[in-house]
Amino acid sequence: MKREESLAGWNIIWWLFKLFGLPITLPWLVYHFYDIMQQKRRRAALGNKVVMITGASSGLGEALAHIFYSSGCRVILVSRRKEELERVKNDLINTHQTVPTYPPIVLALDLTDINNLQDEVSKAIMVHGRIDVLINNAGISYRGEVIDTNVDVDIKVMLSNYFSQIALSKIVLPYMIKQQSGHIIGISSVQGRIAIPFRSAYAASKHALQAWYDTARAELSDKNIKFTVINPGYIKTALSLNALTGNGQVYGLMDKTTESGYPPKYVAECILKSVLKQEKEVTIASFSPKCAIVLRTLFPSLYFWIMQKRARKLARDK
Ligand SMILES: NC(=O)c1ccc[n+]([C@@H]2O[C@H](COP(=O)([O-])OP(=O)(O)OC[C@H]3O[C@@H](n4cnc5c(N)ncnc54)[C@H](OP(=O)(O)O)[C@@H]3O)[C@@H](O)[C@H]2O)c1
Repeated sequence: MKREESLAGWNIIWWLFKLFGLPITLPWLVYHFYDIMQQKRRRAALGNKVVMITGASSGLGEALAHIFYSSGCRVILVSRRKEELERVKNDLINTHQTVPTYPPIVLALDLTDINNLQDEVSKAIMVHGRIDVLINNAGISYRGEVIDTNVDVDIKVMLSNYFSQIALSKIVLPYMIKQQSGHIIGISSVQGRIAIPFRSAYAASKHALQAWYDTARAELSDKNIKFTVINPGYIKTALSLNALTGNGQVYGLMDKTTESGYPPKYVAECILKSVLKQEKEVTIASFSPKCAIVLRTLFPSLYFWIMQKRARKLARDK
């Protein structure tokens, strides 16, 4: 009797699975398999590409260096601290010994020195004679109140996050146009889509990137140059430690939000996927920042009201 009851139970589960499960599972499996095959094909296409990554000495840039190098790319690592870039270079060589590619090139530069980038960048590009992908990742953050922030700090953040990205892109673009192919990736932020209190300079610099990339994408589509903007939410890196305050000093604290952010490796993997798919814009964030972006677009007054409340609360909690 018990066996018959249990068989009847299994029959009901099987019947329910056929009715609801199969129509969902089968297409999902087919899509998943197709996606894996596409990824493999695209990954094969990535091998040997020359990829320049800025801000490669730490955090997200370092994770990107690992993921692109391990995909067989010829990487050029850019940032100010040469010794840190050398450390990343050695890590890449030692960690991915079996990857058939060239040793990484180290290019120690201050990207905010925009009038002196041309020669050094051109020399690095000429090592392999081409540049396929530029990942504009270097950047700094900021913490402060609009009213107390020295304009020099606004300028510095804008120079680091916006002007240096577009200056480097303008050096690289003629090579890409000559090759008739290229892909430029701008690491923006969720704050490139929505601005939050006490981050004015940072959010402004990331909003500016958004506009520049949208324009460049439209203008250069006929030249086969692709542009992708990445908007990550919080990532667990040294970003808040290195952030500037309103008086220009280093903030030096690890924020809770940054501490509990996505692992850089995860974000780097998402970026690799979006490069392979040649996506135009990707937001890598949890549900609430994504909701906030929609809210800012569809119901701006409600968004402004919430931000007003948030600003008051943050000011009280300080
Ligand atoms: N962490 C987050 O929560 C988060 C969220 C959204 C977006 N992002 C964006 O992700 C990108 C990477 O930041 P991260 O989180 O990985 O922080 P990070 O660990 O502080 O990395 C910043 C990188 O930028 C480089 N850099 C800064 N100023 C530079 C300059 N003037 N010239 C050359 N290189 C410079 C730094 O290298 P040197 O010191 O060696 O120059 C470092 O490698 C940034 O654009 C940031 O806005 C981060």
